[in-house]
Amino acid sequence: MFFSKLINLLPLLAAVGGATAAKRDIAANTGSNITVYAYGTGISGLPVYAGTDGLAYVSTNPSSDMKPVNWTLARGGQVPWNVTLGSSNSTSTSAIQFYIVTTADAFEPVGFLNSTSTAPDGAVTTGFTTYGSNVMYIDGSTYTSQFWAMSTTETGVWEIMWNESGADQAGSVPVALRTVGPPTIN
Ligand SMILES: *[C@@H]1O[C@H](CO)[C@@H](O)[C@H](O)[C@H]1NC(C)=O
Ligand SMILES: *[C@@H]1O[C@H](CO)[C@@H](O)[C@H](O)[C@H]1NC(C)=O
Ligand SMILES: *[C@@H]1O[C@H](CO)[C@@H](O)[C@H](O)[C@H]1NC(C)=O
Ligand SMILES: *[C@@H]1O[C@H](CO)[C@@H](O)[C@H](O)[C@H]1NC(C)=O
Ligand SMILES: *[C@@H]1O[C@H](CO)[C@@H](O)[C@H](O)[C@H]1NC(C)=O
Repeated sequence: MFFSKLINLLPLLAAVGGATAAKRDIAANTGSNITVYAYGTGISGLPVYAGTDGLAYVSTNPSSDMKPVNWTLARGGQVPWNVTLGSSNSTSTSAIQFYIVTTADAFEPVGFLNSTSTAPDGAVTTGFTTYGSNVMYIDGSTYTSQFWAMSTTETGVWEIMWNESGADQAGSVPVALRTVGPPTIN
């Protein structure tokens, strides 16, 4: 179980490519001000943004109302993952935590809860860990990665989802969330 889920990530890891990936893997997988990127078919390392609705998006051309997310990550699943939103000229001060919905059969958006937002039914804010540079959820003794990117009505904008069963979904591609950015071409 553990390994079959990890194996799905291998083509994505390979796609990041040789020496650059090795160098960037030194980047922190825990700590604060970390950027999380999504990788999947047609999504080659796009940073995760927060929409005004508190949900997580990736975009090839993020609009100004999408806020960059600085993540504070820890291993082991014990503590919530806190984030700050916005650029340095627009820092959110309220406590904000990452969540996914793990209800059986759920295919639900992932997002960020602040002190005034209401958590959706089945939302969990603990259980997250990094495994190398991959973002995983610890389900009992299994490390799982069931993130999907669902296309939206806007071209080049995907909503990040969590699918508790991992079944195929029209208009969606599985993605790996990673702390390593795409290689830059100099
Ligand atoms: C994260 O960014 C904030 C805002 O710029 C800064 O105050 C803080 O020192 C940074 N933390 C780390 C660990 O770099
Ligand atoms: C909390 O998040 C909601 C979106 O879920 C947003 O509309 C609201 O402005 C946020 N509140 C604060 C204090 O940031
Ligand atoms: C997030 O904030 C909570 C409350 O302050 C804290 O207990 C927890 O350790 C923080 N998480 C991380 C990953 O630092
Ligand atoms: C995000 O982190 C960067 C440093 O990596 C910092 O310059 C920026 O101010 C931080 N933004 C927020 C909202 O914490
Ligand atoms: C921050 O400032 C820059 C430069 O002035 C501006 O382009 C950007 O839109 C600002 N960001 C926010 C979130 O206000």
